[in-house]
Amino acid sequence: MKIAIDGPAGAGKSTVAKQVAAKLRFVYIDTGAMYRALAWASQQEGLAAIDEHAVSTLLEKNRIKLQRDDQGDAQRVWWNEEDITAEIRTPQMSQLASIVAGHPRVRALMLDLQRALAEEGNVIMDGRDIGTHVLPDADVKIFLTASIEERATRRLAELQQKGVETSLEALMEEIAERDKRDSEREVAPLKQAEDAILVDTTGRSIEQIVDQILHICQKTGESA
Ligand code: DC
Repeated sequence: MKIAIDGPAGAGKSTVAKQVAAKLRFVYIDTGAMYRALAWASQQEGLAAIDEHAVSTLLEKNRIKLQRDDQGDAQRVWWNEEDITAEIRTPQMSQLASIVAGHPRVRALMLDLQRALAEEGNVIMDGRDIGTHVLPDADVKIFLTASIEERATRRLAELQQKGVETSLEALMEEIAERDKRDSEREVAPLKQAEDAILVDTTGRSIEQIVDQILHICQKTGESA
């Protein structure tokens, strides 16, 4: 079974997807982490995120690896031999990831990598274009949203836990800017697939959302 979870920044996709994956014993694939890894490497190499040729060539010549980690973060992210799991989770990397993700050549390469990862069997994949482009035939498609205030509040708590200093206002601005860029790009923009189920997480607990998605998966499995 393939499960696609899409939605705007901070809607809770990865938190929910990790828990659903653990309950169903599915492989979890965080596609945003792949764009973040490329953003991080571009910065390390001194490349401008807007330089499509340089950034896509960098991706072509190197290797991103997602590794399951049952303790801690549920998934470790590697750029070649370097573990960059923590480095990619800053507000700066969020913005740079959104910029490199706008390049058609980068998206074409990522599409191949992501489809190959999905071959692993039962997977739950989260991102922006999973239901629309990466796995258009996914068995279950969820589009997760929440109000921008709630998304920024959740991000703030997450970042504060990691010791990153920021404010609610700055995060609301950062999220709105990223949503706009992710939704307005020409290739594979953030968009709800026609056959996706809209799940609004505003004011609801993670547990409630996880249960709802598990229920949807169960119903889909029964009718298959
Ligand atoms: O899900 P995230 O916040 O880690 O994603 C970081 C950025 O990567 C996001 O702003 C847009 C981009 N992205 C994308 O374009 N397509 C995806 N499938 C996943 C992420």
